[in-house]
Amino acid sequence: MPVYQATVSAPVNIACIKYWGKRDTKLILPTNSSLSVTLDQDHLRSTTTSRADPSFEKDRLWLNGKEEVIAHGGRMATCISELKRLRREVEENNAAEPKLSAFAVHISSLNNFPTAAGLASSASGFAALVASLAALYQLPASPSTLSLIARQGSGSACRSLFGGYVAWQEGTAPDGSDSLAVEVAPREHWPSLHALICVVSDDKKGTSSTSGMQRTVETSPLLQHRIKHVVPERMRIISDAIRARDFDTFARVTMQDSNQFHAVALDTDPPIFYMNDVSRTIIAIITEYNRVSVAAGGKLKAAYTYDAGPNAVIYAPEENLKEIVELIVNYFPQPAPFKDPFGLFGSAGVGEG
Ligand code: PMV
Repeated sequence: MPVYQATVSAPVNIACIKYWGKRDTKLILPTNSSLSVTLDQDHLRSTTTSRADPSFEKDRLWLNGKEEVIAHGGRMATCISELKRLRREVEENNAAEPKLSAFAVHISSLNNFPTAAGLASSASGFAALVASLAALYQLPASPSTLSLIARQGSGSACRSLFGGYVAWQEGTAPDGSDSLAVEVAPREHWPSLHALICVVSDDKKGTSSTSGMQRTVETSPLLQHRIKHVVPERMRIISDAIRARDFDTFARVTMQDSNQFHAVALDTDPPIFYMNDVSRTIIAIITEYNRVSVAAGGKLKAAYTYDAGPNAVIYAPEENLKEIVELIVNYFPQPAPFKDPFGLFGSAGVGEG
């Protein structure tokens, strides 16, 4: 009996132009386009294995070893059934194909970083889920086509199907058929751009992006201004900056958009606070670092951005990274490594003999 199984990894992506707000909550259609950078595979990623087998009684999913309920009509169920539908098309067009779409699937996903801490785990998670089922089913689908499905798991997940610089076009079709991710530039286009992730807290976040967005759409006048008058121009400017490898413009727009996203969260009723005092201190450090550079006739050297949590992502050209790490560590010295000269806490410690 053949084994039908596939394992795929998908990295986290961090938005420079933020997605915040849905115009359709079921199809997950955004109120504005967004643009992100997908991080390297070897750092923050989800790795997902999907297996189809006639002996499986129902679809099941494990996240970091713990089984999650696949709610009927929920996002996971939608992604799985959409991929089974595409598989059925393959089987209908080629009678020799095994009828995998009729089997239940077991899916196991592992993150190599804390889940739901504002580190976009849902983005890499749903992207890896969709990509692993697409590999299992050998679907002849492009990343943009798969992004239509990943989007229905978690909006930002659609962007993690590409590496490098990715735009999620909001689209206009009511059925969501043109709300998909496209590549702006591959990673190799601008390899010297790096992302430094400062984990301020790895607690689970207070207000989920789903409920936060809904409240913002319902109550924030600033969001309406942002959607109509701010984001479209920023999408054009930052896409051009990426194509031209113009870090100064990229950094300016990235920081402005992070600030406006958090302003929109504050403009929500009741207000939402995702950043904390450490997040704000990191903003002050980067602002001063840039100010000193510009005052000396130079350009911006780093850009901060924050998602729905307190953790900072700092984009910077490789040549500035050492300086930035030194600055951050200067303000937030890391606790000295724990020393245990008597070996009391090691494997040969008290109680273990
Ligand atoms: O895809 P979600 O529901 O996790 O929303 C992500 C929202 C932000 O991370 C704050 C912005 C973005 O574009 O990724």
